[in-house]
Amino acid sequence: MSTVAVELRHFGHDDLPAIRQTLLDVHADAYADAMDDEFTQRFPWFVDHWGSRPGFACVIGYDDGEPVGFAYGAPAVPGREWWREHLPEPPADPSTFAVSELMVRPAWRKTGISARLHTALLAHRSEALAVLLVDPDHPKVQALYETWGYRKVGHRQPFPDSPNFAVMLRDLHR
Ligand SMILES: CC(C)(COP(=O)(O)OP(=O)(O)OC[C@H]1O[C@@H](n2cnc3c(N)ncnc32)[C@H](O)[C@@H]1OP(=O)(O)O)[C@@H](O)C(=O)NCCC(=O)NCCS
Repeated sequence: MSTVAVELRHFGHDDLPAIRQTLLDVHADAYADAMDDEFTQRFPWFVDHWGSRPGFACVIGYDDGEPVGFAYGAPAVPGREWWREHLPEPPADPSTFAVSELMVRPAWRKTGISARLHTALLAHRSEALAVLLVDPDHPKVQALYETWGYRKVGHRQPFPDSPNFAVMLRDLHR
């Protein structure tokens, strides 16, 4: 296994029916140790929710044809960006891409593929900002995102049974 062998493919809203099961299968492996959690079990709802957006964008990594991880997101709805209640003043250009999911199957972790998926998802985006949510109980994941240029701007608990996520924000075109 090597990152060189992992091929990245880009998908959009119209591709959701074709990639939906792949996303569910990768998630089942990536979150195998957390599948007793009800929030984690609602992942198919989130796939359909994000995939229904016209601006949905997804990158899946394939190792010799086998899906090993993915990143997806969509442009944030203006006025409802996850950072909005946490900054004293909105940035001059508030356009934001929301990175909703990033996951890599355990056997392919620590290979650099997560960074490649994330970089590929955000490459050539027109938005000024990228935002994501991370479970603060996973400080090493948060630290990983900080090495990618994100900074924590606050907390957000979108659902009563979800973690009280850290909101992480970065400039896209520094
Ligand atoms: C987050 C992820 C994509 C990073 O992949 P990666 O770049 O290959 O990096 P690693 O898997 O080595 O993760 C970095 C560190 O975070 C830790 N970590 C990763 N996922 C974690 C989780 N769900 N809970 C707690 N710690 C976690 C790892 O153990 C590692 O720490 P270590 O260096 O001490 O071993 C991958 O770990 C993953 O898919 N995790 C499960 C899904 C997830 O948590 N996604 C993030 C949601 S905000």
